Amino acid sequence: MSQTATPVTHERFFVVDFGSQYCQLIARRVRELGCYAEIVMPRDLADRIDEAKGVIFSGSPWSAYDDNAPRIDAAVYERGKPILGICYGMQLTTHLLGGEVEHAEAREYGPARIEVVDSESRLFEGLDSELDVWMSHGDRVEKLPDGFLPIAKTHNAPFAAARHESKPIFGVQFHPEVTHTPQGTQILKNFLFGVCQASGDWTMASFIDEAVEKIRSQVGEHDQVICGLSGGVDSTVAGILIHKAIGDRLTCIFVDNGLLRKGEAQQVLSNFRDRYQIELRFADAGERFLASLAGVVDPEEKRKRIGHDFVEVFKAEARSVENAKFLAQGTLYPDVIESQSAFGGASVTIKTHHNVGGLPEELGFELLEPFRDLFKDEVRAIGRELGVPDTFVERQPFPGPGLGVRIAGEVTAEGLAVLRESDAIVREEIERDGHHKGLWQYFAVLAPVKTVGVMGDERTYENVIAVRAVESTDAMTADWADLPRDVLSRISNRIINEVRGVNRVVYDISTKPPSTIEWE
Ligand code: XMP
Repeated sequence: MSQTATPVTHERFFVVDFGSQYCQLIARRVRELGCYAEIVMPRDLADRIDEAKGVIFSGSPWSAYDDNAPRIDAAVYERGKPILGICYGMQLTTHLLGGEVEHAEAREYGPARIEVVDSESRLFEGLDSELDVWMSHGDRVEKLPDGFLPIAKTHNAPFAAARHESKPIFGVQFHPEVTHTPQGTQILKNFLFGVCQASGDWTMASFIDEAVEKIRSQVGEHDQVICGLSGGVDSTVAGILIHKAIGDRLTCIFVDNGLLRKGEAQQVLSNFRDRYQIELRFADAGERFLASLAGVVDPEEKRKRIGHDFVEVFKAEARSVENAKFLAQGTLYPDVIESQSAFGGASVTIKTHHNVGGLPEELGFELLEPFRDLFKDEVRAIGRELGVPDTFVERQPFPGPGLGVRIAGEVTAEGLAVLRESDAIVREEIERDGHHKGLWQYFAVLAPVKTVGVMGDERTYENVIAVRAVESTDAMTADWADLPRDVLSRISNRIINEVRGVNRVVYDISTKPPSTIEWE
């Protein structure tokens, strides 16, 4: 399958990925300020630097003086482009240009206060003379290279920020991109708009216009596009954007695997068919999936069977679309760089599972991936701009295998019915007063046990529903949400009263690690 890049006719800023966990955050901050940012690998910078209006070097877990540390060609400093080195980015610049970087006796992690010593610096224009910043480094600059001047210091580090006396090269030892550096946004603004003279021409509306043009030129006048819908944000917004570009030459395929949440399939149908009049093939394959899952209790075996069935059903539907040459996917930027990060993936902590991804190459389509350079929250913003209803735009992540991995043990039609009703109550009650804001996921799980209860004067022996609600930023780690007692109490009462076959509700108070978010 071939891949496409997003068209870019506006100013570009490069964020060079030296392996920092904050790399993506830097790019996002730059975009929030109205400038287009793209992440670039160190080895590619020298070839591409002329395309950039300015460059930001990220931090890194490495030391600039390590033999295997990620480097760039020092010639980039001679190309006249503005450069801002953050943490390792500053240390690397120092190291490459003849200064000294050493392991610091007193490491600086967490909050620090810096004192500005150079009132002339454009990077700190309009800022207080002392400011709170967030540090996270074990090395420090001991001696600046020739031609560099200090801008700020802390009591531990003489060079908390520095600049070249005449070239637009800057370095900061702290992290302006994190919210713990309250004036960090102003520093980035000063770099982009003061030093680089950015015009701020990146908006969601301009992205949409360009993406529509690019899709039209890639697809041409006659070919058809297939888009696999999962019901999630990315594929929904991709489908609607592509429809805007090529109208009825788009056919969406939605596979109902019978493992969706209450009302989900109907929502997708009515959004695409009624609201947007988009051609939608609906494969009602629930029974097939259920038959494949009969008697299977091992979670990985369930995933395998669900994945296999999905591909088979999708293939059959896709074959029925004539002249289909392209397959559209809602691939996001984190999916793209996961496979090509500077050091083989360890630097990238955001992990997005693709519900409709993973289709085999043998399908023979060209890929259309309009969001390859974007983050999820940017796709949400595009969705809002396109008028996509909140029910889709704000949807919480939902795993590809769906409720199949939220029934611990064998998946049965009865189990699915109990879980679906319980899950709908969990979502409704948590969303009622906006408690879902700030949560990563919140859902019900059907536990693989029955317990004794008493209803009226009767003994019951019924199912247990577990409620899972977690806070997380990237799903790599998660904490259980401290939901108000009355919300938990309403959930419990309603499930036990309204869902036949449940006599106990428990709240999952496990963090990840050592638990995982899903039970399977
Ligand atoms: P865990 O359970 O590993 O989940 O803490 C982390 C995130 O990944 C989602 N998840 C999946 N998504 N297919 C998916 O598309 C899967 O098989 C799968 N397993 C877990 C989970 O919902 C959470 O957001």
